[in-house]
Amino acid sequence: MLQGKKIILGITGSIAAYKAAILLRLLVKAGAEVKVVMTASAKDFVAPLTYSTLSKNPVYSEFSTADGSWNNHVELANWADFILIAPASANTIAKMANGLCDNLLLATYLSASCPVYVAPAMDREMYAHKATLANLEKLRTYKNIIIPAEDGELASGLHGEGRMAEPEHITAFLEKKNADSLRLKGKRALVTAGPTFEAIDPVRFIGNFSSGKMGIAIAEKLASEGAEVTLVHGPIHIENISKNIKSIAVTSAEEMRKACLQVFSKADITVMSAAVADFRPTQKATEKIKKVDAGLTLKLEHTVDILSELGKKKKAGQLLIGFALETNNEQKNAADKLKRKNLDAIVLNSMRSKGAGPGGDTNKITIIDKYNKVKHFELKPKTEVANDIVTYIISCLKK
Ligand code: CTP
Repeated sequence: MLQGKKIILGITGSIAAYKAAILLRLLVKAGAEVKVVMTASAKDFVAPLTYSTLSKNPVYSEFSTADGSWNNHVELANWADFILIAPASANTIAKMANGLCDNLLLATYLSASCPVYVAPAMDREMYAHKATLANLEKLRTYKNIIIPAEDGELASGLHGEGRMAEPEHITAFLEKKNADSLRLKGKRALVTAGPTFEAIDPVRFIGNFSSGKMGIAIAEKLASEGAEVTLVHGPIHIENISKNIKSIAVTSAEEMRKACLQVFSKADITVMSAAVADFRPTQKATEKIKKVDAGLTLKLEHTVDILSELGKKKKAGQLLIGFALETNNEQKNAADKLKRKNLDAIVLNSMRSKGAGPGGDTNKITIIDKYNKVKHFELKPKTEVANDIVTYIISCLKK
């Protein structure tokens, strides 16, 4: 699986560009998000529309676009978990080996600190030429990973080595590399997400604006690092969630509590990002409450604080992370919560930060740990915030 992996697929001028379309389909099918960067000569073989349709992303080719904006190669390189250049022509390989930068793909390559995979494609004599062999050797010294060309019929009509590896073989190669490098393989994780609804009567409830996006992004990231994830979620949409995440749908805080208690004892990592209702009506009316002139006063009682309960049950080796949504005195309130609930760390988001909090697609967090170490992060899309949280979790497990 390449679930959640972000891949830049670099396509250069080679007849094997047609196979890149099949490769792209396989990568997307394996769960990856792919952005294609193609050289000008690649467009002589296959039109960008093929790749944009298959990847559901724009295809990047020039440094600037028709409307005068800039295709930022640094941003593209930082976005990617890895770069795959397939097909890689002799010309592009030579330029990569020598640090040339006369197109967007090369600029992205030179800007990248992520792994780079290169699948050469050329004619037999070109592939066997000492210059090409030396260039590929140079790429290996840069820690680029070469996916060797295969033996077979070549576009020239010759037979021999030089054909780009078959798309199925490239995908299998990447999946194996990915499986070997998963940092949370063998770990079990519990994540909560979304609101809880506390029934007033058969048709009404007390709830909140949580969309569950933050918790889902964390669950996805943990799963993409190889963890076995159970997502306990309130009433939210989870249709597009990865198949390898086990989900348990609940409605009320009490249902969420019961589901968490079932899973928690075996969880190495627990991230409680759900916006659990703190109060529920003391009684749920069995029939719809009628509109009466005197108005209505609801009597509420506390729900059980699930996180506190898990904090009490926590054993050595279990990592427990809570969330704190605050409106004032943020850092102090969050640090108090961390202590009170016996957490290893707390993720603070403030309602005062623009773009943070429930509902939206971005968040701005601060992570406070049990040693009172504080780490502030920029405002980012929730998927990137999830990366930061999971990177933090991995660093905790290494200690
Ligand atoms: N939480 C929980 N069970 C509850 C209430 C909250 O597990 N009944 C968890 C949330 O999932 C979150 C953390 O506790 O990880 C903090 O939630 P928050 O609403 O910020 O704080 P509270 O503890 O409810 O305190 P307050 O509302 O007074 O700020």
